[in-house]
Amino acid sequence: MTEAWRPDDDRTRPASGPVRVRVPAKINLHLAVGPARADGYHDLTTVYHAVSLCDELTARPGDTLTLTMAGEGTGQLALDDSNLIIRAVRALAAHTGRPAQARLHLRKQIPLAAGLAGGSADAAAALIACDALWGTGLTRDQLGGVAAQLGSDVPFLVHGGTALGTGRGEVVSPVLARPTTWHWVLAVADGGLATPRVYAALDDLRAAGTAPAPLAAPDDLLGALRQRDPRVLAGTLGNDLEAAALSLRPALAATLAAGTAAGALAGLVSGSGPTCVFLAGDAAHAAALATRLEADGGCRYAVPVHGPMPGARIA
Ligand code: C5P
Repeated sequence: MTEAWRPDDDRTRPASGPVRVRVPAKINLHLAVGPARADGYHDLTTVYHAVSLCDELTARPGDTLTLTMAGEGTGQLALDDSNLIIRAVRALAAHTGRPAQARLHLRKQIPLAAGLAGGSADAAAALIACDALWGTGLTRDQLGGVAAQLGSDVPFLVHGGTALGTGRGEVVSPVLARPTTWHWVLAVADGGLATPRVYAALDDLRAAGTAPAPLAAPDDLLGALRQRDPRVLAGTLGNDLEAAALSLRPALAATLAAGTAAGALAGLVSGSGPTCVFLAGDAAHAAALATRLEADGGCRYAVPVHGPMPGARIA
């Protein structure tokens, strides 16, 4: 077996062996959505948080670009140029003037269309993996620039941690927080929700009701992150897309109620859903909550996770 390439090797030398990259899922601790823009996107203010449910992408040298996949939901993913991993490799090749050549294999755990940015995570992993494979030696900020062309959440998955997202989500700056591990449960629903549908449902709800409040810095949440008390954090979580996701998937209300009844400190829809995320007091509490939610949360499965996690990294 070829020895795996190590991240401390010269970053401008092509890798001599396979490059394996792990990349986390994300949740949004805060997601405030402004009105629709002329380009179809929405300005937002969000606090991203990377959690310990990970995909793994392995890149090997090749004469063409090939991709194989195994794991969660991969039977539903196209392997052609519409695949975000293929688009990421081609974008990096165009940016660096290299031929788009690699043999890629994805092991997937992050569910599809779940509000966890699984597709964006895989694109971020592809950028990190091919940068190392080809020895293009881009900085994380340069990779973030390529990432922004691929999707609003992709730059965050390159950086990871806990970060403030502005613009359409692609402008990312790290949040200064005391080093703390937060414990969560992800309740993964049957079936996905398409992100554009959820944003459109929010626009419809707003057209029929009140206009959004102006976007502001999430000071309460940022203050809570500087403390170590999950009870304080619980009171500051929020997601403007939650009402829209619930309008499209009313059964999520029962999952949220089940989490609260089981003793979660807080529960909310993750991003555009339909995954629901619950805050726990510690790892044991998260494990117990996951067991209760699997039994009576109306979800496909529930998994305890923790954060923050680093972004896409060579394993
Ligand atoms: O950026 P990304 O390709 O992940 O976005 C998917 C879709 O989600 C967009 O086409 C748009 O409909 C919606 N979206 C939005 N405003 C954002 C991010 C995404 O309306 N800030």
